[in-house]
Amino acid sequence: MAAALIDGKKIAEEIRQEVKDEAGRLREKSGVVPGLAFILVGDNPASESYVRSKGKACEETGFYSITERMSADTTEEALLAQVKRFNTDPKIHGLLVQLPLPKQINEQKVIEAVSPQKDVDGFHPYTVGRLVIGEDTFKPCTPAGVQELLMRSGNDPSGKHVVIVGRSNIVGKPVANILLQKMTGANAVVTVAHTGARDIAYYTKQADILIAAIGRPEAIRGDMLKPGVVVIDVGINRIPDASKKSGHRLVGDVHFASASEVARAITPVPGGVGPMTIAMLMKNTLKAAKLLTAPSN
Ligand code: GUN
Repeated sequence: MAAALIDGKKIAEEIRQEVKDEAGRLREKSGVVPGLAFILVGDNPASESYVRSKGKACEETGFYSITERMSADTTEEALLAQVKRFNTDPKIHGLLVQLPLPKQINEQKVIEAVSPQKDVDGFHPYTVGRLVIGEDTFKPCTPAGVQELLMRSGNDPSGKHVVIVGRSNIVGKPVANILLQKMTGANAVVTVAHTGARDIAYYTKQADILIAAIGRPEAIRGDMLKPGVVVIDVGINRIPDASKKSGHRLVGDVHFASASEVARAITPVPGGVGPMTIAMLMKNTLKAAKLLTAPSN
């Protein structure tokens, strides 16, 4: 059996178009242009590339965006001062400090300095707390993208056993908290497996929906899955490949060839979850702009 492909690129484009249309209406009605600020510290090539793609998405969606670049030896104090400036800048509705940060900077301190009203990453403890108790908030972009992918590909998680492999603050923990809520688009029975498990396959074999976010290339193979499972692969890993001009290729946390023999549906890497993250960032920024400029504010 060959699994159906879940086309994240196409679904992300649909969402970006919806956000663009709604942003156009907001602009017509109230003159508000959603604004997103990026802070990029140092010269990590992956971070550079992510911020560039996010900036381009803003342009295509009709948002204002600005990128503040700071050198790798920036002090924590200088970074916190920059966060404060964007927190109080009325043109800015969303603020994203690209992670990871250089080691002289306490990442958590920076995350907690971002105004919760502009926390479009969904990383501030206030935002995380609201997510856990099921209150409306900014959902972190990749987990929100996973939820949208499931719903828009006709794989409602309600009543299903979702097994998440990975427990990071950015993906594993928030996706678990989103999918277990008693809400539309959620209501799943959730298991979180991780590198501390003695036998990962014991858990993955029980999944109706498997979400791989463990950060290990091709770690989940077809023989670890139940026939008919829906596989969402959040991993993006670079592995050496002499046949490519670049000398490498991207693979997920799932071994695609063997998993697609067993699964009913699967996301490719690239072109699965990746494009969804940016689409959801646009959605969160629009939400922030609306909330911050609502007449009652
Ligand atoms: N680094 C990797 N992913 C992310 C993300 O979603 N947001 C931020 N701010 N940094 C990241």
